Amino acid sequence: MYKQTIQFEYEVFDTIEELSTEDKMLMEEARKATALAYAPYSKFKVGAVAILNNGEIVKGSNQENASYPVGICAERTLLGNAAILFPEVPIKSLYISYHNTVGKSNEPISPCGMCRQAISEYEHRTHQKIKLFISGMEGKVFVFEQASLLLPLSFSPINLLG
Ligand code: THU
Repeated sequence: MYKQTIQFEYEVFDTIEELSTEDKMLMEEARKATALAYAPYSKFKVGAVAILNNGEIVKGSNQENASYPVGICAERTLLGNAAILFPEVPIKSLYISYHNTVGKSNEPISPCGMCRQAISEYEHRTHQKIKLFISGMEGKVFVFEQASLLLPLSFSPINLLG
């Protein structure tokens, strides 16, 4: 028996003012995209924005449903939009924000497990890592060089091949 360790580093910026001009603008867009959410049940509005290798910008927001499990997260609406509007074009960076209309929105939240799986597969299918920026409506921004760092030991298409 032996033990293994998985660890990774990420960057913490105190505010979006510390980001590059492009990253700041795109995180601002993600914050604005929270207004596109349809979240009458949770009141938790998530906005996602991505910039692709071709410079195009794609958005997503969570879309809930009276039949609760039918709802879909902002990240996965974004991935569907990107895949259909710009097939095969890798995502360079992904920016996620949220507006908790019944609470605070000043701490970064990271994608749910299902979205981590979906983002990881997008990296795999486009052969490119996605840089991930997460924040709330204000406050700190966490930056991960590769989104799939958030899903270590994940199940991937490689496993299906045996
Ligand atoms: N949500 C997202 O859109 N992305 C996440 O990564 C976490 C959760 C949405 C789903 C649901 O509409 C609401 O936030 C509350 O869970």
